[in-house]
Amino acid sequence: MTNRFENKVAVVTGGCRGIGKSIVLKLASEGARVYALDFKIPDENEVFIEDSEIAKSVKCLQADVTNMQSIDKCFDTIIADAGRVDILVNNAGITRDNLLLRMTEQEWDAVLDTNLKGAFICTKVVSKIMISQRSGRIINIGSVVGSIGNAGQSNYSASKAGLIGFSKSIARELASRKILVNVVAPGYVRSPMTDSLTDEQKKAFIDNIPLKRIAEPEDIANAVAFLASDESSYITGQIIHVNGGLFM
Ligand SMILES: NC(=O)c1ccc[n+]([C@@H]2O[C@H](COP(=O)([O-])OP(=O)(O)OC[C@H]3O[C@@H](n4cnc5c(N)ncnc54)[C@H](O)[C@@H]3O)[C@@H](O)[C@H]2O)c1
Repeated sequence: MTNRFENKVAVVTGGCRGIGKSIVLKLASEGARVYALDFKIPDENEVFIEDSEIAKSVKCLQADVTNMQSIDKCFDTIIADAGRVDILVNNAGITRDNLLLRMTEQEWDAVLDTNLKGAFICTKVVSKIMISQRSGRIINIGSVVGSIGNAGQSNYSASKAGLIGFSKSIARELASRKILVNVVAPGYVRSPMTDSLTDEQKKAFIDNIPLKRIAEPEDIANAVAFLASDESSYITGQIIHVNGGLFM
């Protein structure tokens, strides 16, 4: 185990399953104290992290990223507990896929609220903390479809494209305070979000990927860890695509 994140405090939204959980494990395994914010947190009897050493560094907090009060409360708890926040990963995201003519206003709003407004709320709250620290890393989890679009995902693609414009604007606003803001844009990743696809849909995806496999959540976590580390101190306002060559 390396200690790239010793003495660092990280917050990962949607951190209790899928890609978010993998990011939590990666940062904690390299020394960070990590807060996983999620709608649905594991109950007391559930073994959330098997490695008991890593588990000691992770706390799950119930939160709704679409609700400013809920997020304010979480960050108050984190500051009272840990005193600082060095890394924010805006990972919480949902899909409500439908073709445009069938898409309801509710499906549109739910996806934009969670994926885009959620990142705005968490970034706004954490930026006050990071500005006073004069340092910080904000990493937003986008998607390849934010760059190339996808039939049936106009709401999701719009939210992820919006996240790119948001991230670049914030990167410019916060650069003078040494706060770096970047996007990691996954392609197709093995996770509960994609488990519901049929084998036929999965095969169609893989056929289009030059590396001929889907990503493991760890592939995404590795890119996030790089952007959270001292090794990326001259990188801001960028998108790192982690998609096996699907989009170049
Ligand atoms: N899985 C993929 O193939 C893929 C591809 C590209 C991008 N992404 C992005 O990666 C991120 C994680 O995806 P995943 O596949 O792990 O999804 P997932 O559905 O497995 O996990 C998402 C987590 O976010 C939480 N969440 C949802 N709404 C929330 C809210 N309002 N407040 C707090 N927590 C909330 C959920 O409870 C869940 O734990 C998302 O932003 C997603 O858009 C995923």
